[in-house]
Amino acid sequence: MSTKIVIAQPGGSEQLRAVTVEDAQPQAHEVAIRHEAIGVNFIDVYIRSGLYPWPVDKDLVLGSEAAGVVVAVGDDVNHLAVGDRVAYTLPNGAYATERVIDASHVVRIPDAVSAEVAAAVMLKGLTVSYLVNDSYAAKAGDTILFHAAAGGVGSLAGQWLAHLGVRVIGTAGGAEKCELALKHGYSDVIDYSKEDFEHRVKELTDGQGVDAVYDSVGADTVAKSLACLKRFGTLVCFGQSSGPVTDFKISDLAANSLRLTRPTLFHFTSSRDWLEQASSELFELILSGTLDVPVKQRFSLADVALAHEALESRQTTGSTVLLP
Ligand SMILES: NC(=O)c1ccc[n+]([C@@H]2O[C@H](COP(=O)([O-])OP(=O)(O)OC[C@H]3O[C@@H](n4cnc5c(N)ncnc54)[C@H](OP(=O)(O)O)[C@@H]3O)[C@@H](O)[C@H]2O)c1
Repeated sequence: MSTKIVIAQPGGSEQLRAVTVEDAQPQAHEVAIRHEAIGVNFIDVYIRSGLYPWPVDKDLVLGSEAAGVVVAVGDDVNHLAVGDRVAYTLPNGAYATERVIDASHVVRIPDAVSAEVAAAVMLKGLTVSYLVNDSYAAKAGDTILFHAAAGGVGSLAGQWLAHLGVRVIGTAGGAEKCELALKHGYSDVIDYSKEDFEHRVKELTDGQGVDAVYDSVGADTVAKSLACLKRFGTLVCFGQSSGPVTDFKISDLAANSLRLTRPTLFHFTSSRDWLEQASSELFELILSGTLDVPVKQRFSLADVALAHEALESRQTTGSTVLLP
């Protein structure tokens, strides 16, 4: 038997409830994984609250990244065996002690990477991978602004961009978060709860602005993010933790011939080649010590509602994991 956390309809975190179910058996191309750690992400909050379309017409199991051990393998699975330590990112279904998924989404974890770290980086680390390589191909000498720098994605992005030779300016809410971000690759961190970040970015760049802004905060920041960009600069909008952007016009890009992109991780991970290449680079960066993965909050799976409350009320830093 295994436990799943389900929710019947969009709503508050108090509606998340545990149910006990029979273990499913893997069919062809599938594996069963016993979870050891499950990542909590802002997308879980967007789906739970109804900001994103409700994907099923029955109880939904949230959770889009996890790590654990393969406990059963279906036919025609060649790259995995019972006992392998593995991780994956896939929309929904991970808030469970055990689950069956298509093996094509699953990668093996190096021995020296813990389940907690793997569960914290499959979604967030692979997001940074596509952000810095694809959405805007960051290069040595660039100056880049990254919002929510002390968060799960932000704390990885600062280190990755610094490793590429980028000067990374961050924003974060509060002195403690700013201090934490400074330990994760950022050369300067602006407390945007107190200071006008557009003004400060202009000061820090001698009025020039930045080559790119990665903005996952949305409503509260996008207009000023555009104003921080150099001519031909790129705005990468990849989230909306403060709410969706509702008043943007294409002509807002004209002032500086700007570029805008709005990417989604799962369009990248649906390619097995991309997943293998990007996850092996991600694990190499962790093993070499280039990427420190700050797992700052741990909750039992049963306390998932507390994890959601902490994340949506801006009380977390780094990554949050659930322990079954
Ligand atoms: N498109 C994609 O493929 C993709 C993939 C992964 C993640 N994302 C996005 O990346 C962002 C970061 O994800 P994460 O899971 O690592 O979360 P996180 O950064 O750990 O947490 C979100 C942070 O957003 C900031 N924030 C600003 N205004 C907020 C508000 N009104 N309410 C709540 N938080 C607010 C807070 O930091 P401060 O207090 O420092 O402001 C908060 O800690 C999210 O927007 C997420 O949706 C997108």
